[in-house]
Amino acid sequence: MSSIKQLNLFKTERNTNDGFKDPGALGNKKLPMHRWVTWIAGFSAAFTKDAIEKYLPTPKSDSIILDPFAGVGTTLIESFKKGINTIGFEINPFAALVSQVKLESAVVEQRMLEKAIAGYTCFMGPIERLIDQSISKGDSNEALQSAQRPKTQPPRNFRSRIPFFSPPVEQKVLFTFDYIDTLPDESIQRIFKMAFGAVMVSCSNYSYEPSLGSRPGAGRSLIENAAVSQIVTRKLKEILADIKEFQDEISMMEKLPKATVYRQSFFEALKRIDSSSIDLIITSPPYLNNYHYVRNTRPHLFWLDLVSQPKDLQELEKENYGKFWQTVRELEATNLHFDLPVLQEVIEYVRNLNQAKGVYGGQGWANYIATYFNDTYSFMAILKKILKSKGIAVIVVGNSIIQGIEIKVEEFFSRIAALHEIETEGIYIVRQKRVGSSIVNTGVREKSKQKTELYDAAVVLKR
Ligand SMILES: C[S@@+](CC[C@H](N)C(=O)[O-])C[C@H]1O[C@@H](n2cnc3c(N)ncnc32)[C@H](O)[C@@H]1O
Repeated sequence: MSSIKQLNLFKTERNTNDGFKDPGALGNKKLPMHRWVTWIAGFSAAFTKDAIEKYLPTPKSDSIILDPFAGVGTTLIESFKKGINTIGFEINPFAALVSQVKLESAVVEQRMLEKAIAGYTCFMGPIERLIDQSISKGDSNEALQSAQRPKTQPPRNFRSRIPFFSPPVEQKVLFTFDYIDTLPDESIQRIFKMAFGAVMVSCSNYSYEPSLGSRPGAGRSLIENAAVSQIVTRKLKEILADIKEFQDEISMMEKLPKATVYRQSFFEALKRIDSSSIDLIITSPPYLNNYHYVRNTRPHLFWLDLVSQPKDLQELEKENYGKFWQTVRELEATNLHFDLPVLQEVIEYVRNLNQAKGVYGGQGWANYIATYFNDTYSFMAILKKILKSKGIAVIVVGNSIIQGIEIKVEEFFSRIAALHEIETEGIYIVRQKRVGSSIVNTGVREKSKQKTELYDAAVVLKR
């Protein structure tokens, strides 16, 4: 390759922001419903609202907004609130559960949930007191043995390097599941499971940094004990309050929109969605940053009985958009399945970097980039089929720095869309983030370092 500088030669007009609200999920942390579960690299509710108002200002009763990578349902819930039918695909069973619970909240019976929360407090009070007393007496193991035994067993095939929960916390967690099993209504059970999933890491010996690792590994102390039922109840009460507000908000609607989330890969979408049926797509696929959604939710998936064995995780990894570097680094040289010379050159360039490092060097990362964009190509092929004529897709992605090379992901999305005859309406930089180290803006050979800004961009495509 002549020079990596070619990457900066893209001619696409780049607009800054253009009225879009910050897409970062941080804005969701305090918002009703969106605050239930934090999910990495989501976009904010405000961003979604803006995009709907801009690109589907006058929806009809059969309009549909799709999020192919729904995460915890930001697009789905904002579309629903606007009375627009919505469909989501989400491969991660925990995120899909959260999206499902949010949509079901439109019709869940508040009284039943209230009663279930009160019942949980009554059930756990004496059990938790007994466990805490035995610890304060210093005979935790003995007392725990003699205390009433939970019926639920820890997930059989879940392994962690250090005990995920300390023994008293684990007892409290198992009793929590005993209680959930007694709940007669499945949608209330799902709310409890989601609430537990939302707080379980905070009661454990692990933490997000932002990947999941042991607390001692991050210089934090172990969690010897935790007020599990109080923590779960606080989350449940937050959920109940938000459900009340949500149901009030939608009570004016003559008819509720249709809303579905498929716990399935979007690459299977053509089995579920009719051709030319989607008005608007608002989505954020996994970034080219190797954030390992599957590994980072392993405890949720096992403890909530959403997977039962390691093989299930491998299946999820295989179907994940982009694959993970850990799963492709040892493959033979993987190349693009389509023709885009400017991208192929970047892949070749990365492949030749740091060869002495073996799969940890350029070869492994080149495979990662190639599989990511091969999936992008398949993704665009599906978009082309399911979007209505003149339908719009707003796709939020970030640039990446891989082996010191900046990859402007949004530019390649636009070019891959063009290969499917999908037009780019615009590329908008919607958020500037931290600054990373890159050698891209300088002569690569001198390897002098320059700071490159990381940002999120909305690629707006039109069929
Ligand atoms: C950047 S996140 C989306 C976050 C979302 N915008 C939100 O607000 O929660 C990308 C999501 O894509 C999901 N995903 C990855 N591969 C997928 C596939 N093949 N089909 C459907 N979802 C997939 C991941 O599990 C992850 O939740």
